[in-house]
Amino acid sequence: MAQSSFKPNYDESKVPAYTLPDVLKMPDGQRVASAKQWTSVQRPAILQLFKEHVYGQMPGNPRVVRSVVRSVDKQALGGKAIRKQLTLFFGNGDDAPGMEVLLYLPKTAKPAPVFAGLNFFGNHCVSNDPGILLSTRWLPNRNEEVVNNKATEKARGMQASRWQVEELIARGYGTATVYYGDLEPDHATGWQTGIRTTLKNDLHTAPEDWSAIGAWAWGLSRLMDYLETDPAVDAKRVMLHGHSRLGKAALWAGANDPRFAMVISNDSGEGGAAIARRMFGETIERINTSFPYWFVGKFKSYNQNENAMPTDQHMLLALVAPRPLYVASAKDDQWADPKGEFLGARAAEPVWALFGKQGLGITDMPPVDQPVGQTIGYHIRTGGHDITAYDWQQYIRFADRHSGKQ
Ligand code: GCU
Repeated sequence: MAQSSFKPNYDESKVPAYTLPDVLKMPDGQRVASAKQWTSVQRPAILQLFKEHVYGQMPGNPRVVRSVVRSVDKQALGGKAIRKQLTLFFGNGDDAPGMEVLLYLPKTAKPAPVFAGLNFFGNHCVSNDPGILLSTRWLPNRNEEVVNNKATEKARGMQASRWQVEELIARGYGTATVYYGDLEPDHATGWQTGIRTTLKNDLHTAPEDWSAIGAWAWGLSRLMDYLETDPAVDAKRVMLHGHSRLGKAALWAGANDPRFAMVISNDSGEGGAAIARRMFGETIERINTSFPYWFVGKFKSYNQNENAMPTDQHMLLALVAPRPLYVASAKDDQWADPKGEFLGARAAEPVWALFGKQGLGITDMPPVDQPVGQTIGYHIRTGGHDITAYDWQQYIRFADRHSGKQ
Protein backbone atom coordinates (compact mmCIF):
# COMPACT_ATOMS: atom_id res chain seq x y z
CA MET A 1 0.00 0.00 0.00
CA ALA A 2 1.41 3.37 -0.96
CA GLN A 3 1.10 5.70 2.02
CA SER A 4 -0.49 8.37 -0.15
CA SER A 5 -3.30 6.06 -1.28
CA PHE A 6 -4.44 5.38 2.28
CA LYS A 7 -7.74 6.98 3.20
CA PRO A 8 -8.43 6.70 6.92
CA ASN A 9 -11.98 5.98 7.94
CA TYR A 10 -13.39 8.58 10.33
CA ASP A 11 -17.00 7.56 9.92
CA GLU A 12 -18.34 5.57 12.88
CA SER A 13 -21.04 4.02 10.71
CA LYS A 14 -18.34 2.44 8.52
CA VAL A 15 -16.58 0.66 11.36
CA PRO A 16 -16.80 -3.03 10.44
CA ALA A 17 -18.62 -5.53 12.65
CA TYR A 18 -16.11 -7.42 14.77
CA THR A 19 -15.85 -9.71 17.77
CA LEU A 20 -13.02 -9.16 20.21
CA PRO A 21 -11.08 -12.14 21.49
CA ASP A 22 -12.33 -12.87 25.01
CA VAL A 23 -9.64 -11.69 27.40
CA LEU A 24 -10.67 -14.36 29.92
CA LYS A 25 -10.71 -17.33 27.53
CA MET A 26 -7.72 -19.50 28.32
CA PRO A 27 -5.77 -21.54 25.74
CA ASP A 28 -7.71 -24.69 26.78
CA GLY A 29 -11.02 -22.96 26.07
CA GLN A 30 -12.01 -22.57 29.73
CA ARG A 31 -12.72 -19.12 31.17
CA VAL A 32 -10.53 -17.64 33.86
CA ALA A 33 -12.38 -17.88 37.16
CA SER A 34 -9.92 -16.42 39.66
CA ALA A 35 -7.17 -13.85 40.05
CA LYS A 36 -4.78 -16.73 40.65
CA GLN A 37 -5.68 -18.37 37.34
CA TRP A 38 -5.25 -15.06 35.59
CA THR A 39 -1.78 -14.55 37.04
CA SER A 40 -0.51 -18.10 36.60
CA VAL A 41 -2.12 -19.15 33.29
CA GLN A 42 -3.81 -16.46 31.25
CA ARG A 43 -1.47 -13.53 31.83
CA PRO A 44 1.63 -15.42 30.62
CA ALA A 45 -0.35 -16.86 27.68
CA ILE A 46 -1.46 -13.40 26.50
CA LEU A 47 2.01 -11.95 26.98
CA GLN A 48 3.33 -14.73 24.77
CA LEU A 49 0.76 -13.92 22.05
CA PHE A 50 1.89 -10.29 21.97
CA LYS A 51 5.53 -11.40 21.71
CA GLU A 52 4.80 -13.71 18.84
CA HIS A 53 2.35 -11.63 16.84
CA VAL A 54 2.93 -7.97 17.66
CA TYR A 55 6.02 -6.67 19.47
CA GLY A 56 8.48 -9.57 19.41
CA GLN A 57 10.62 -10.99 22.19
CA MET A 58 11.49 -9.13 25.38
CA PRO A 59 14.99 -10.25 26.39
CA GLY A 60 15.76 -10.30 30.10
CA ASN A 61 19.42 -9.99 30.96
CA PRO A 62 21.75 -8.20 30.91
CA ARG A 63 20.35 -5.65 33.21
CA VAL A 64 22.25 -2.45 33.81
CA VAL A 65 25.84 -3.46 34.38
CA ARG A 66 27.07 -0.16 35.72
CA SER A 67 25.83 3.38 36.34
CA VAL A 68 28.08 6.42 36.15
CA VAL A 69 26.93 9.68 37.71
CA ARG A 70 27.54 12.62 35.35
CA SER A 71 26.27 15.41 37.51
CA VAL A 72 24.25 16.14 40.63
CA ASP A 73 22.74 19.54 41.43
CA LYS A 74 21.08 19.84 44.81
CA GLN A 75 19.75 23.31 44.02
CA ALA A 76 18.08 22.72 40.68
CA LEU A 77 14.92 24.51 39.51
CA GLY A 78 15.36 27.46 41.83
CA GLY A 79 16.42 25.28 44.75
CA LYS A 80 13.24 23.18 44.72
CA ALA A 81 14.67 20.01 43.21
CA ILE A 82 17.63 17.70 43.03
CA ARG A 83 18.79 16.99 39.48
CA LYS A 84 20.83 13.88 38.75
CA GLN A 85 22.24 12.82 35.39
CA LEU A 86 23.71 9.39 34.86
CA THR A 87 24.83 7.05 32.13
CA LEU A 88 23.60 3.49 32.50
CA PHE A 89 25.88 1.06 30.69
CA PHE A 90 24.68 -2.33 29.45
CA GLY A 91 28.21 -3.74 29.37
CA ASN A 92 31.78 -3.16 30.55
CA GLY A 93 33.95 -0.40 29.19
CA ASP A 94 33.18 3.19 28.25
CA ASP A 95 32.21 2.27 24.71
CA ALA A 96 29.60 -0.27 25.87
CA PRO A 97 26.05 0.56 24.77
CA GLY A 98 24.20 2.63 27.30
CA MET A 99 21.63 5.32 27.88
CA GLU A 100 21.55 8.74 29.53
CA VAL A 101 19.15 9.28 32.43
CA LEU A 102 17.82 12.60 33.68
CA LEU A 103 16.18 12.49 37.10
CA TYR A 104 14.58 15.32 39.08
CA LEU A 105 13.50 14.70 42.65
CA PRO A 106 11.49 16.99 44.91
CA LYS A 107 13.14 17.93 48.17
CA THR A 108 9.86 17.45 49.99
CA ALA A 109 9.44 13.69 49.65
CA LYS A 110 12.05 11.17 50.72
CA PRO A 111 11.97 8.71 49.10
CA ALA A 112 10.00 10.27 46.25
CA PRO A 113 7.42 8.69 43.95
CA VAL A 114 8.54 9.18 40.37
CA PHE A 115 6.91 9.45 36.95
CA ALA A 116 9.10 7.74 34.36
CA GLY A 117 8.97 7.94 30.59
CA LEU A 118 10.90 8.17 27.36
CA ASN A 119 11.29 11.48 25.56
CA PHE A 120 11.28 12.25 21.82
CA PHE A 121 14.16 14.73 21.43
CA GLY A 122 16.87 14.12 24.04
CA ASN A 123 16.78 14.78 27.79
CA HIS A 124 17.38 18.49 27.19
CA CYS A 125 13.92 18.72 25.53
CA VAL A 126 12.00 18.29 28.80
CA SER A 127 13.07 21.53 30.51
CA ASN A 128 14.85 24.83 29.88
CA ASP A 129 17.18 24.04 32.79
CA PRO A 130 20.61 24.94 31.31
CA GLY A 131 22.28 22.29 33.47
CA ILE A 132 20.85 19.43 31.40
CA LEU A 133 23.50 17.82 29.23
CA LEU A 134 22.70 18.25 25.55
CA SER A 135 22.18 14.86 23.89
CA THR A 136 24.87 14.02 21.35
CA ARG A 137 22.83 11.25 19.69
CA TRP A 138 21.16 11.09 16.31
CA LEU A 139 17.91 13.06 16.47
CA PRO A 140 15.21 13.63 13.86
CA ASN A 141 15.79 17.03 12.22
CA ARG A 142 13.45 19.78 13.32
CA ASN A 143 13.63 23.49 12.51
CA GLU A 144 16.54 25.22 14.26
CA GLU A 145 16.37 22.82 17.18
CA VAL A 146 17.85 19.78 15.47
CA VAL A 147 20.15 20.43 12.52
CA ASN A 148 22.03 17.69 10.66
CA ASN A 149 20.49 15.25 13.14
CA LYS A 150 22.24 16.93 16.10
CA ALA A 151 20.67 18.94 18.90
CA THR A 152 21.46 22.65 19.00
CA GLU A 153 21.19 24.91 22.06
CA LYS A 154 17.74 25.87 20.74
CA ALA A 155 16.53 22.35 21.48
CA ARG A 156 16.52 23.01 25.22
CA GLY A 157 13.02 22.85 26.61
CA MET A 158 11.50 22.28 23.17
CA GLN A 159 8.95 19.88 24.69
CA ALA A 160 8.86 21.30 28.22
CA SER A 161 5.09 21.71 28.11
CA ARG A 162 4.79 17.94 27.68
CA TRP A 163 6.75 17.28 30.86
CA GLN A 164 5.51 19.83 33.40
CA VAL A 165 8.62 19.22 35.51
CA GLU A 166 8.07 22.17 37.88
CA GLU A 167 4.45 21.20 38.49
CA LEU A 168 5.42 17.61 39.29
CA ILE A 169 8.07 18.77 41.74
CA ALA A 170 5.60 21.15 43.39
CA ARG A 171 3.16 18.26 43.81
CA GLY A 172 5.78 16.04 45.44
CA TYR A 173 6.72 13.85 42.46
CA GLY A 174 10.01 13.21 40.77
CA THR A 175 10.44 12.66 37.05
CA ALA A 176 12.87 10.36 35.26
CA THR A 177 13.50 10.27 31.54
CA VAL A 178 15.64 8.76 28.78
CA TYR A 179 15.79 9.68 25.09
CA TYR A 180 14.25 6.76 23.19
CA GLY A 181 16.87 7.06 20.45
CA ASP A 182 19.53 6.01 22.98
CA LEU A 183 17.98 2.55 22.60
CA GLU A 184 17.12 2.64 18.92
CA PRO A 185 17.06 5.61 16.56
CA ASP A 186 13.54 5.88 15.15
CA HIS A 187 14.06 5.23 11.45
CA ALA A 188 14.08 2.22 9.17
CA THR A 189 17.76 1.37 9.66
CA GLY A 190 17.94 2.55 13.29
CA TRP A 191 18.12 -1.05 14.50
CA GLN A 192 21.59 -1.36 12.97
CA THR A 193 23.07 1.04 15.52
CA GLY A 194 20.57 0.41 18.33
CA ILE A 195 20.63 -2.20 21.08
CA ARG A 196 18.92 -4.83 18.91
CA THR A 197 22.24 -5.04 17.09
CA THR A 198 24.82 -3.86 19.62
CA LEU A 199 23.54 -6.18 22.38
CA LYS A 200 22.36 -9.10 20.27
CA ASN A 201 24.96 -11.53 21.59
CA ASP A 202 24.44 -10.56 25.22
CA LEU A 203 20.68 -10.64 24.88
CA HIS A 204 20.71 -13.86 22.82
CA THR A 205 18.11 -12.33 20.56
CA ALA A 206 18.45 -11.61 16.84
CA PRO A 207 17.41 -8.10 15.74
CA GLU A 208 14.46 -9.44 13.73
CA ASP A 209 13.09 -11.40 16.69
CA TRP A 210 11.98 -8.21 18.36
CA SER A 211 11.13 -4.66 17.37
CA ALA A 212 11.85 -0.98 17.91
CA ILE A 213 8.93 -0.74 20.32
CA GLY A 214 10.41 -3.74 22.11
CA ALA A 215 13.82 -2.05 22.35
CA TRP A 216 12.29 1.16 23.72
CA ALA A 217 10.25 -0.81 26.26
CA TRP A 218 13.34 -2.79 27.26
CA GLY A 219 15.07 0.51 28.04
CA LEU A 220 12.23 1.50 30.37
CA SER A 221 12.86 -1.64 32.40
CA ARG A 222 16.55 -0.79 32.56
CA LEU A 223 15.58 2.66 33.86
CA MET A 224 13.56 0.85 36.52
CA ASP A 225 16.62 -1.28 37.38
CA TYR A 226 18.41 1.94 38.24
CA LEU A 227 15.49 3.56 40.07
CA GLU A 228 15.31 0.50 42.33
CA THR A 229 18.87 1.16 43.45
CA ASP A 230 18.45 4.87 44.21
CA PRO A 231 17.49 5.31 47.89
CA ALA A 232 15.99 8.74 47.13
CA VAL A 233 13.37 7.07 44.89
CA ASP A 234 10.29 5.23 46.13
CA ALA A 235 10.67 2.31 43.72
CA LYS A 236 7.25 0.96 44.70
CA ARG A 237 5.71 4.11 43.25
CA VAL A 238 7.19 4.47 39.78
CA MET A 239 4.47 5.56 37.35
CA LEU A 240 5.23 4.81 33.74
CA HIS A 241 3.90 7.15 31.06
CA GLY A 242 4.28 7.68 27.34
CA HIS A 243 2.80 9.69 24.51
CA SER A 244 1.85 8.26 21.16
CA ARG A 245 4.51 5.82 19.87
CA LEU A 246 6.12 6.13 23.30
CA GLY A 247 2.72 5.36 24.83
CA LYS A 248 2.78 2.10 22.87
CA ALA A 249 6.25 1.42 24.29
CA ALA A 250 5.10 2.31 27.82
CA LEU A 251 2.17 -0.10 27.60
CA TRP A 252 4.44 -2.87 26.32
CA ALA A 253 6.98 -2.19 29.10
CA GLY A 254 4.24 -2.05 31.74
CA ALA A 255 2.80 -5.33 30.44
CA ASN A 256 6.14 -7.09 30.76
CA ASP A 257 7.44 -5.52 33.92
CA PRO A 258 5.23 -5.60 37.02
CA ARG A 259 7.64 -3.36 38.94
CA PHE A 260 5.92 -0.31 37.41
CA ALA A 261 3.20 0.68 39.85
CA MET A 262 0.98 2.42 37.29
CA VAL A 263 0.86 2.78 33.52
CA ILE A 264 -0.35 5.85 31.62
CA SER A 265 -1.11 5.80 27.91
CA ASN A 266 -1.39 9.26 26.36
CA ASP A 267 -2.85 9.19 22.83
CA SER A 268 -1.15 5.86 22.09
CA GLY A 269 -3.65 4.91 19.36
CA GLU A 270 -2.95 2.10 16.90
CA GLY A 271 -0.64 -0.53 18.40
CA GLY A 272 -1.30 1.14 21.79
CA ALA A 273 -4.65 1.39 23.54
CA ALA A 274 -6.96 1.50 20.49
CA ILE A 275 -8.91 -1.53 19.28
CA ALA A 276 -7.35 -2.45 15.91
CA ARG A 277 -10.42 -4.30 14.65
CA ARG A 278 -12.28 -0.99 14.41
CA MET A 279 -10.00 0.10 11.55
CA PHE A 280 -10.80 3.70 12.50
CA GLY A 281 -8.09 6.30 11.75
CA GLU A 282 -4.71 4.60 11.56
CA THR A 283 -4.90 0.88 10.73
CA ILE A 284 -2.53 -2.05 11.08
CA GLU A 285 -1.74 -1.94 7.38
CA ARG A 286 -0.98 1.74 7.51
CA ILE A 287 1.25 1.56 10.60
CA ASN A 288 3.10 -1.43 9.14
CA THR A 289 3.69 0.57 5.95
CA SER A 290 4.91 3.77 7.62
CA PHE A 291 6.78 2.13 10.49
CA PRO A 292 7.50 -1.52 9.63
CA TYR A 293 10.35 -1.72 12.13
CA TRP A 294 8.16 -0.82 15.12
CA PHE A 295 6.65 -4.32 15.20
CA VAL A 296 7.76 -7.90 14.67
CA GLY A 297 7.55 -9.35 11.12
CA LYS A 298 4.50 -11.48 11.82
CA PHE A 299 2.39 -8.39 12.58
CA LYS A 300 2.40 -7.69 8.81
CA SER A 301 0.24 -10.75 8.24
CA TYR A 302 -2.63 -8.88 9.90
CA ASN A 303 -2.70 -6.08 7.34
CA GLN A 304 -6.39 -5.85 6.42
CA ASN A 305 -6.70 -9.13 8.24
CA GLU A 306 -7.43 -7.90 11.77
CA ASN A 307 -9.90 -10.64 12.60
CA ALA A 308 -7.27 -13.35 12.17
CA MET A 309 -5.20 -11.83 14.97
CA PRO A 310 -5.32 -13.76 18.26
CA THR A 311 -4.96 -10.46 20.14
CA ASP A 312 -6.43 -6.99 20.21
CA GLN A 313 -5.26 -4.08 22.28
CA HIS A 314 -7.70 -4.55 25.19
CA MET A 315 -5.62 -7.64 25.97
CA LEU A 316 -2.47 -5.52 26.20
CA LEU A 317 -4.21 -3.10 28.58
CA ALA A 318 -5.40 -6.08 30.64
CA LEU A 319 -1.78 -7.06 31.30
CA VAL A 320 -1.47 -3.96 33.49
CA ALA A 321 -4.08 -5.38 35.94
CA PRO A 322 -4.48 -5.19 38.86
CA ARG A 323 -2.30 -2.05 38.86
CA PRO A 324 -3.87 1.32 38.08
CA LEU A 325 -4.03 2.13 34.35
CA TYR A 326 -4.85 5.48 32.78
CA VAL A 327 -5.86 5.85 29.14
CA ALA A 328 -6.12 9.36 27.72
CA SER A 329 -7.37 10.54 24.35
CA ALA A 330 -7.77 13.88 22.61
CA LYS A 331 -10.85 14.92 20.68
CA ASP A 332 -9.05 16.17 17.58
CA ASP A 333 -6.70 13.18 17.53
CA GLN A 334 -9.03 11.00 15.47
CA TRP A 335 -6.02 9.31 13.87
CA ALA A 336 -5.46 7.59 17.26
CA ASP A 337 -9.16 6.64 17.49
CA PRO A 338 -10.28 8.02 20.88
CA LYS A 339 -13.37 5.82 20.94
CA GLY A 340 -11.25 2.76 20.17
CA GLU A 341 -8.99 3.71 23.10
CA PHE A 342 -11.98 4.00 25.41
CA LEU A 343 -13.37 0.66 24.20
CA GLY A 344 -9.96 -0.95 24.70
CA ALA A 345 -10.01 0.12 28.35
CA ARG A 346 -13.59 -1.01 28.75
CA ALA A 347 -12.98 -4.46 27.31
CA ALA A 348 -10.03 -4.93 29.68
CA GLU A 349 -12.17 -4.31 32.78
CA PRO A 350 -13.13 -7.95 33.56
CA VAL A 351 -9.54 -8.60 34.56
CA TRP A 352 -9.59 -5.91 37.27
CA ALA A 353 -12.91 -7.40 38.46
CA LEU A 354 -11.11 -10.72 39.08
CA PHE A 355 -9.03 -8.83 41.64
CA GLY A 356 -12.10 -7.27 43.22
CA LYS A 357 -11.33 -3.90 41.65
CA GLN A 358 -13.54 -1.67 39.62
CA GLY A 359 -12.04 -0.59 36.29
CA LEU A 360 -13.74 2.34 34.59
CA GLY A 361 -17.01 1.84 36.38
CA ILE A 362 -19.00 3.32 33.46
CA THR A 363 -20.09 1.87 30.14
CA ASP A 364 -20.47 4.94 27.91
CA MET A 365 -17.68 7.15 26.73
CA PRO A 366 -17.66 10.34 28.84
CA PRO A 367 -18.04 13.82 27.37
CA VAL A 368 -14.93 15.85 26.55
CA ASP A 369 -12.94 17.12 29.57
CA GLN A 370 -14.76 14.94 32.11
CA PRO A 371 -12.31 12.41 33.53
CA VAL A 372 -13.82 9.14 34.76
CA GLY A 373 -12.77 5.85 36.25
CA GLN A 374 -11.66 3.95 39.31
CA THR A 375 -8.63 1.69 38.91
CA ILE A 376 -8.74 2.44 35.18
CA GLY A 377 -8.82 6.18 34.55
CA TYR A 378 -9.92 7.70 31.26
CA HIS A 379 -10.45 11.11 29.73
CA ILE A 380 -10.86 12.64 26.33
CA ARG A 381 -9.77 16.25 26.37
CA THR A 382 -10.30 19.17 24.04
CA GLY A 383 -7.54 19.63 21.47
CA GLY A 384 -5.15 17.56 19.43
CA HIS A 385 -2.36 14.99 19.61
CA ASP A 386 -0.19 16.17 22.51
CA ILE A 387 0.40 15.89 26.26
CA THR A 388 -0.79 19.02 27.95
CA ALA A 389 -0.91 20.54 31.42
CA TYR A 390 -4.51 19.32 31.56
CA ASP A 391 -3.41 15.72 30.94
CA TRP A 392 -0.80 16.02 33.68
CA GLN A 393 -3.32 17.39 36.16
CA GLN A 394 -5.35 14.20 35.66
CA TYR A 395 -2.30 11.92 36.00
CA ILE A 396 -1.18 13.63 39.20
CA ARG A 397 -4.67 13.41 40.66
CA PHE A 398 -4.90 9.73 39.69
CA ALA A 399 -1.48 8.99 41.21
CA ASP A 400 -2.42 10.89 44.39
CA ARG A 401 -5.63 8.89 44.64
CA HIS A 402 -3.90 5.55 44.21
CA SER A 403 -1.23 6.31 46.73
CA GLY A 404 -3.75 7.25 49.39
CA LYS A 405 -2.93 10.97 49.20
CA GLN A 406 -6.48 11.93 48.29
C1 GCU B 1 2.33 8.75 13.76
C2 GCU B 1 1.94 7.29 13.85
C3 GCU B 1 1.27 6.98 15.18
C4 GCU B 1 2.12 7.48 16.32
C5 GCU B 1 2.44 8.93 16.13
C6 GCU B 1 3.38 9.54 17.18
O1 GCU B 1 1.20 9.54 13.66
O2 GCU B 1 1.11 6.98 12.76
O3 GCU B 1 1.03 5.59 15.31
O4 GCU B 1 1.50 7.23 17.55
O5 GCU B 1 3.08 9.11 14.89
O6 GCU B 1 4.21 8.86 17.75
O7 GCU B 1 3.27 10.76 17.37
